[in-house]
Amino acid sequence: MSQGTVTRRYRFCAAHRLHSDRLTQEENQAAFGKCNNLNGHGHNYVVLVTVKSSGIEEAQDLERLDRTVNETVVRRFDHQDLNCDPEFAERTTTGENLVKLIWDLLESKLMAGRLEKVGVIETRDNYFEYAGSSQARGGARG
Ligand code: NI
Repeated sequence: MSQGTVTRRYRFCAAHRLHSDRLTQEENQAAFGKCNNLNGHGHNYVVLVTVKSSGIEEAQDLERLDRTVNETVVRRFDHQDLNCDPEFAERTTTGENLVKLIWDLLESKLMAGRLEKVGVIETRDNYFEYAGSSQARGGARG
């Protein structure tokens, strides 16, 4: 029996600056271009959270999911500077790192195996996606 998925959309606005303390000023500029500018810049992030649908009590289930995502992700990042988040103390605030962090934050809050995929739309042309590491997903998918 195949199980469907459901995707919910969330939003937050946040500032960031692409910068790595491990790189020199020149290397940062070369790697990140204007995204390395000192004063940072903002994005209207869209977060797409895909979970396996429960099939039963779907509405209640999605309400619970909304609450979890809002408390865990939206409230944490909305109108914040991502570079100030402790999780980004050692990591650059790229979309790749952000989508992984959101995955980790949600995975620890949701029922095991429920989370299917997280997507982050950063700009009109940039979309990042993460579906967990292959080890963490076990052998179930073959
Ligand atoms: Ni940016």
